[in-house]
Amino acid sequence: MRNKITVVGGGNVGASAAVNLALKDLGDVVLLDVVEGVPQGKGLDIAQMGPIEGYDVSVVGANDYAATANSDVVVITAGLARKPGMSRDDLLFANYEVVKSVTENVAKVSPDAILVLVTNPLDAMCTVAHQVSKFPKHRVVGMAGVLDSARFRTFIAMELNVSVENVTAVVLGGHGDTMVPVTRFSSVSGIPLEDLIPADRLAAIVDRTRNGGAEIVKYLKTGSAYYAPSAAAVEMVESILKDKKKVLPCAALLEGEYGINGLFVGVPVKLGRKGIEQIYELKLNDAEKAMLAKSASAVKELIDVLKPKMA
Ligand code: 2OP
Repeated sequence: MRNKITVVGGGNVGASAAVNLALKDLGDVVLLDVVEGVPQGKGLDIAQMGPIEGYDVSVVGANDYAATANSDVVVITAGLARKPGMSRDDLLFANYEVVKSVTENVAKVSPDAILVLVTNPLDAMCTVAHQVSKFPKHRVVGMAGVLDSARFRTFIAMELNVSVENVTAVVLGGHGDTMVPVTRFSSVSGIPLEDLIPADRLAAIVDRTRNGGAEIVKYLKTGSAYYAPSAAAVEMVESILKDKKKVLPCAALLEGEYGINGLFVGVPVKLGRKGIEQIYELKLNDAEKAMLAKSASAVKELIDVLKPKMA
């Protein structure tokens, strides 16, 4: 039997995710949006790519959650995106309501699904989805580190004029301005990054990575990035559905790991058919620990603001 994947949110991220899921033949796709006609039109358009690209999976759009019932994975992209000058955190209240309502509906009809969150502010939205769904923590995972480390890898490859495939990079922490690209655990085919790039250039690359989303928002003016974010979410879905057990940086609920308790924060995890199958704890030095603690406290600030609503 084919897998069933729902993508909630028929905007740029959601529709691009549906395209990537179909191209990878990962399963039948339902694209859900509240706007009548948009998911149906985009779904049909993507289905009509099938004969050209050679996929047989069905792609349909819907406004009703009944169409999404019994999904194996649900990718939640619904919500507002940033405009120039906004931080991801500025989306907190509006997207809280969206993610709460989406999760309530999803949990009712797909009680065994794995939730992949994409909506910003990402780490806080993971908490909302976890609390509302009451799903076990291994079935709620956030997409951010895969995107942030892809940006980091891209900039490193550009700097050194090497293949992006040879660059491995780790980004920890919240998906915000305080995220922690960990240069010490990043390499080019095993050659430590710090031996290849002078410290000042490396600092500039780290800074560009931290502001990678804002750089694109500034260019686009009316929205935020969607090609790389959707591809990142689909890499996670692929690892889950094919039980590939890829080790990817993702937002996971920490319960003591890295000295953090009760918060979703980006860390390396093993993603397989059960969802988050393992959390890896890197041996961080004091400076890295301090950066991660700062990033986690930025996530906590948002959760504290939401607490009265979530109570
Ligand atoms: C980004 O970093 C949308 O948060 C996403 O571009």
